[in-house]
Amino acid sequence: MKILILNGPNLNMLGTREPEIYGTETLADVETLCEKTADGLGMRIDFRQSNHEGELVDWIQKARPEFDAIVINAAAYTHTSLAIHDALKAVNLPVAEVHISDPSSRESFRHFSYIEPLANIHVKGLGIKGYAIALEKLAHLL
Ligand code: DQA
Repeated sequence: MKILILNGPNLNMLGTREPEIYGTETLADVETLCEKTADGLGMRIDFRQSNHEGELVDWIQKARPEFDAIVINAAAYTHTSLAIHDALKAVNLPVAEVHISDPSSRESFRHFSYIEPLANIHVKGLGIKGYAIALEKLAHLL
């Protein structure tokens, strides 16, 4: 089982970015957590981050046939990107949507998600542990 883990804009700044919301762990810490969790579940992962919508769309389009599922924290693109929604729909792989914070309890402009209707699994507001939980739920689903 091979899982593509995608991270959207500004998640490369985890650790220093609004630590009161996102914590002090870095994206490298998230990757280490995902590697360890995947190892324990007998999965392999490819962990990526981009600040560019088109690059995320390209990666989603190319996910087949290499990957069996996608974990995505699309960050701000969650709330704006019909292009990412369409790419996920086109590739038609199981999707786990992850958010470190709980966008539904923050500003109203974070309440809508273009990813939500396409995701089989939703994990939000659990900090970076949410990535590990998403992998566990995917292992169960697949
Ligand atoms: C986020 C929540 C989004 O609203 C925000 O734009 C992010 C991070 C989260 O992981 O909590 O960049 O996806």
